[in-house]
Amino acid sequence: MKFFIDTANLDEIREAYDLGVLDGVTTNPSLMAKEGITGDENVRAHYKAICDIVDDKVSAEVISTDFEGMIREGKELAKIDDKIVVKIPMIKDGVKALKYFHGEGIRTNCTLVFSSGQALLAAKAGASYVSPFIGRLDDISFDGLELIEQIVHIYQTYGYATEVLAASVRHSMHLIKCAEIGADVVTCPLKVITGLLKHPLTDSGLAQFLADHAKAAGK
Ligand code: E4P
Repeated sequence: MKFFIDTANLDEIREAYDLGVLDGVTTNPSLMAKEGITGDENVRAHYKAICDIVDDKVSAEVISTDFEGMIREGKELAKIDDKIVVKIPMIKDGVKALKYFHGEGIRTNCTLVFSSGQALLAAKAGASYVSPFIGRLDDISFDGLELIEQIVHIYQTYGYATEVLAASVRHSMHLIKCAEIGADVVTCPLKVITGLLKHPLTDSGLAQFLADHAKAAGK
């Protein structure tokens, strides 16, 4: 399973990359705004800075909601760096844009997916990734993980090449469950990845090993 970090914060991206387990980055307009990145020039420069940190797969989202606008914007984003994956919302013109970019050999990530029907459309249109939002479904009493399971099942049944990118991941158990289900990718905040490290028996076991070693060495 691939790990993407879900942030536009350069320090967090560097920290996750330095850990040696990072496969990519996802951003969205809210995450860019959180970092105070505004204006076309600054946005492009920020995406380039992210691309310079990681090896590949940096999702950059279009703002346009009409076909022509998404194509124009997506092409501009793709020009920034070969690592860019153009992120397109799951709307009617978005489906057309996914199909267009597929034909152009430009990778896409279909975002704001909340049903298996939407995921089926994204796969048929040739999206490279589909992003079902787990946490936002859980927030309104729908089972986000159940949706991941349904999409994985449908894609496996028909052999779709689209990768299931579990998004809106809120905690480490979401990530572990996604791994059990067979999601191809999970995108999450840094704390969800570092949360995997934690176990009290690791901490107490290491403390004991070091204490025994010091005792035997007469320290
Ligand atoms: C990533 O591609 C999504 O935009 C992101 O995971 C949404 O997460 P949120 O629901 O925590 O905002």
